[in-house]
Amino acid sequence: MERTLSIIKPDGVKQAVIGEVIKRFEANGIRVAAMKMIHMTKEQAQGFYAVHKERPFFDSLTDFMCSGPCVPMVLEGDDVIAKNRELMGATNYKEAAEGTLRFDFASSIESNIVHGSDAPDTAAFEIGYFFNSFEIV
Ligand code: CMP
Repeated sequence: MERTLSIIKPDGVKQAVIGEVIKRFEANGIRVAAMKMIHMTKEQAQGFYAVHKERPFFDSLTDFMCSGPCVPMVLEGDDVIAKNRELMGATNYKEAAEGTLRFDFASSIESNIVHGSDAPDTAAFEIGYFFNSFEIV
């Protein structure tokens, strides 16, 4: 059993697809083990995406991530890191496969609806960034 962090980003919340995203997770055998709605500060978004701090899109990305509420979740299941990334589709929505969340709902490489951890070590950091052990059930 593996865990990963998913975030429904501010563009997903604004498009009112929280339920649709969770429905796709559950329909694909993924269990939601923790969930909350938060509105990040710029500093919190910078801390979350610190790995990208040298990238040219860092300032714009962190502005976007604190532009409205988002929904971080802990997902649990067999091979859930890869399974979640498959359901999300490619980071660049123009390359996302048909039927993926980003194909269906993303509007730019930045406003790409969802985030998902890319490996076990990043999943551990990202889960711990938003949730303590008592909040994961
Ligand atoms: P995410 O999976 O959350 O990881 C980093 C985010 O940076 C990515 O999704 C996009 O929302 C955003 N981003 C903006 N521009 C780029 C870019 N040129 N390449 C990769 N990610 C980008």
